[in-house]
Amino acid sequence: MNSKNLQKRDLIQIYRNNGFSTEEASAEIDFAIELMCGISPKDLIMGIMPDPKDIEKLKKLIEIRTSTRQPIAQLLGHTFFMGQKFEVNENTLIPRPETELLVAKSVEVIKQHNLKQVLDIGTGCGCIACMIAKKTDAQVLGVDISNESLKISLNNAMHLDLMNRALFRKSDIFSKIRPEEKFDVIVSNPPYIPPFERENLQIEVKLYEPATALFTTDSLGIEFYKKIIPISKDYLNKGGFVLFELGINQACHVRKIFEENHFKDIEIFKDVTGIERVIKAQLD
Ligand SMILES: C[S@@+](CC[C@H](N)C(=O)[O-])C[C@H]1O[C@@H](n2cnc3c(N)ncnc32)[C@H](O)[C@@H]1O
Repeated sequence: MNSKNLQKRDLIQIYRNNGFSTEEASAEIDFAIELMCGISPKDLIMGIMPDPKDIEKLKKLIEIRTSTRQPIAQLLGHTFFMGQKFEVNENTLIPRPETELLVAKSVEVIKQHNLKQVLDIGTGCGCIACMIAKKTDAQVLGVDISNESLKISLNNAMHLDLMNRALFRKSDIFSKIRPEEKFDVIVSNPPYIPPFERENLQIEVKLYEPATALFTTDSLGIEFYKKIIPISKDYLNKGGFVLFELGINQACHVRKIFEENHFKDIEIFKDVTGIERVIKAQLD
């Protein structure tokens, strides 16, 4: 980057003055340039430059970002998930890279068994629902308790041209799913952080991401798995699957809940950092 007056190192310095490392700063600046201007880090290396006006805009944004610690994705109103641009705001969790594993495992099982009906519980900005709809032939219903996040999920589905196959509805878990509605796959990245962990979270998360998306009320963070698994049997077709994202050290607890509810072929998948991140089980 090399606008007339401002260079990447000037932007990095704003971060460094506020306690961020050069690596964090550089990665975030690249991310912001790609979101704002569609110029990828590779393009930057090739010498493609953002418009100087955009760099000025970015500088102002970075000043707000570093002084308030508000996540850059919220300030820009978008993030990337599985290579697609998703609208986000302060009412939606910002999709995390580890959730890509949940989508990948869901897509795998849907394709393997040619499954058609999927329910995504706690859809947030709709990233899981949209990416499953985009990568398979399935129809996905995303539900959430938050009206505000449902507005964003709808925008994202519209933007990705998925309005016919990613649908959204307000529901407190299964409360607004009719008894006759049946699914082949139920997928969820539910809130799974126990309340006592709040103090250990980054300021960005603690102050700016919605508490309803993050926290449970129980000390193990497994409240939602306990609620969803027993009732999921009423909404699954025979041989249907349930897949969850997991928090750290939750796999053994969630496996036990599946076993108590007579699910079979329980599989746990680790993320790139070695954490047991996704669990899959099949209805007997
Ligand atoms: C961890 S976030 C996941 C968001 C999104 N699916 C993702 O992976 O980025 C959990 C979501 O569950 C929603 N949620 C919390 N309680 C809920 C409930 N009782 N019923 C439905 N959704 C709920 C929150 O609003 C939030 O969008």
